[in-house]
Amino acid sequence: MTSIQAQRVAGGAVSIFGEMSLLAQRHQAVNLGQGFPDFAAPDFVKQAAIAAIGADLNQYPPSPGWPRLRQVLAAQWEREHGRAVDWVHEVSITSGATEGLYALTQALLDPGDRVVVIEPAYDAYLADVRMAGASALPVRLCPPTPATPRWSLDVAALRDAFAQRPKLVLLNTPHNPTGMVLTRDELELIAGLCRYADTLVISDEVYDRMTYDDAVHLPIATLPDMWDRTITLGSTGKTFGVTGWKVGWAIGGAALNQALRQAKQWITFTTPTPLQEATAVAVEHAAAHGYYAQLRAEYAARRDLLRELLTRAGLQPLRVEGAYFISCEVRRFGFADDQDFCRWLIGAAGVAAIPTSIFYGRQDDLPQIVRFCFAKQHATLLAAGERLLRIAR
Ligand SMILES: Cc1ncc(COP(=O)(O)O)c(C=O)c1O
Repeated sequence: MTSIQAQRVAGGAVSIFGEMSLLAQRHQAVNLGQGFPDFAAPDFVKQAAIAAIGADLNQYPPSPGWPRLRQVLAAQWEREHGRAVDWVHEVSITSGATEGLYALTQALLDPGDRVVVIEPAYDAYLADVRMAGASALPVRLCPPTPATPRWSLDVAALRDAFAQRPKLVLLNTPHNPTGMVLTRDELELIAGLCRYADTLVISDEVYDRMTYDDAVHLPIATLPDMWDRTITLGSTGKTFGVTGWKVGWAIGGAALNQALRQAKQWITFTTPTPLQEATAVAVEHAAAHGYYAQLRAEYAARRDLLRELLTRAGLQPLRVEGAYFISCEVRRFGFADDQDFCRWLIGAAGVAAIPTSIFYGRQDDLPQIVRFCFAKQHATLLAAGERLLRIAR
């Protein structure tokens, strides 16, 4: 039979994720591949959802989002960034940041439009660009070197990409999978290129609360003349450790919000009411009770623990400035690529990781880097650490 799948959904990445999960199950591996917490969600978050369902907030909300949540998010932005946000026109709620990405690419891109995608890139980006019929202009980050121990922008490649007048750039900071947090200088460079090429920005900031050491998260939308051309995405799933809720938000210029809403009405139309109300309660509680500082401290402790365990196993972790992943360069293990290394690691150590090659379109000339997730209980990380000693050399 000929393929039943349309070309827009045919792709390789899903099968590698599937293969790794299957292998992990077969070997009863400690799974540090999956990018979500294995610990309980905060009680105030769970109670808020239970209360919302109990209060019968169970019918369709307005399509752009539950007003209370949009108000709370607008107030939070104003508190943190000093710009008044019009919650009616400048904040929309989505079913996870995933829907925000899909709705926006559908709403903004026509076939033939060009989109700058900074690689490695969260796997939805290339898929969303492809499903919109647009063309990706991939620009690879430069991996850390002993002389420059953080990931960095390839400025010449970025300039070349923007010279092609892309309609859109997809940014992600703090970054999955590398843990890079774009600095003010880097953001200013990108903002300058966007103004020069008249390019719109989707800025995926779902890990904005997870930054470490002296890394500072700065939304590109706060830079001069960037508000109207930028839409910033956030996620209840990441911020409150409830990835199964699939509630996200989009904050930015009214025209971009309007475009998003026009697509969203034909995708999900709405996002579950009680989980929107619960997110509003959670965001208010977070600000009043120092939740974000606590979250950052807890994740920093998990990062430090996993970094130490990886080092003890001889894996040489790369620097992490934000998000909840640690990467390791593994070329010296002598495998053909990072996927082979991950297959071997599951069998030899009983630990699952993700090969970062799946975050690239073209597969030539890639670094061999694998990603471990530290959004896990200390017990899980310690169990992984013990198993990783099996491959210590
Ligand atoms: C960079 C990035 N963007 C978006 C998402 C998806 O967010 P959500 O669960 O809110 O749809 C993820 C989830 O892993 C992510 O890593």
